Amino acid sequence: MEIVHTISDLQTKLNALRQNNKSVGLVPTMGALHEGHLSLIKRCRTDNDVAVVSVFVNPTQFNNPNDLATYPRDLDADAALVNAEGVDLLFAPSPEDIYSNEEINHRFEFDFQGLDKVMEGKQRPGHFNGVVQIVSKLFQLTNPTRAYFGEKDFQQIAVIRLMVKTLGFNLDIIACPIIREASGLAKSSRNQLLSDDQKVLASNIFKVLKESLNFASKMSPLNLSQWVTENINAHKGLEVEYFEIVNADTLQTISDWNDASSVVGCVTVHCGNVRLIDNIKYKG
Ligand code: PAJ
Repeated sequence: MEIVHTISDLQTKLNALRQNNKSVGLVPTMGALHEGHLSLIKRCRTDNDVAVVSVFVNPTQFNNPNDLATYPRDLDADAALVNAEGVDLLFAPSPEDIYSNEEINHRFEFDFQGLDKVMEGKQRPGHFNGVVQIVSKLFQLTNPTRAYFGEKDFQQIAVIRLMVKTLGFNLDIIACPIIREASGLAKSSRNQLLSDDQKVLASNIFKVLKESLNFASKMSPLNLSQWVTENINAHKGLEVEYFEIVNADTLQTISDWNDASSVVGCVTVHCGNVRLIDNIKYKG
């Protein structure tokens, strides 16, 4: 596996690898890799002739400076994991390699058609502008046949699909299922910031989500939302920021289960200083 840090090295190596119309798969990440990321990488490796992984803690998508400062980083460990998966190219640039001062200091404008007004978009102003800024740049630089994203970040996939359509990228977005700890806790780079006790506590998030599946036919979406929020908050040390039951395509809240053919419940919970997200499919 080659590790490249600059755009020009990336393009030189990638041009050599992609000769004879080879398919190229891209897995964008922010590093601190775990089995969630590795599931995307394995799928990318299987589907494509050439597999590329990027590791870049993208400063423009962090709306909280402390979150950016404490985000776990370990490129050597990440490189060893990516190498073991048989990846061809690891792209690990610095912010200076990727952005001009102008780009880093000004919000990237994009018409989200309302997708930025709900859930993560509402709670983290500017977050998805940064995500679209970096992912569109990575798509331009690597011109992949397919790009891989995890359903853990459910809203991110919706935003990226819209971006692909709006900006006219010719590639397939492949959505991969959430990988969990044995306890049910969704794997996340931020789990490293939890103590052992907090990990046990945080596993109640998925326990409550899973239990809520039993009530989906018996309660209205609004009542079920309240039930989920109350039952997560009942665990001292967990605090729900939002839980919304939404149409999986538009991400708008539904008031009746018949409002959409595909329905998902998305949650963000604070466990101490750590912000955890998860979701569960109710329908579709
Ligand atoms: P990051 O949080 O590193 O996640 C990289 C990819 O791994 C995302 O598509 C995410 O949904 C997926 N992923 C994370 N945990 C997962 C899990 N438990 N199961 C399955 N997939 C999981 O998401 C980002 O980085 C950034 O926003 C990025 C897209 C790289 C742009 O900077």
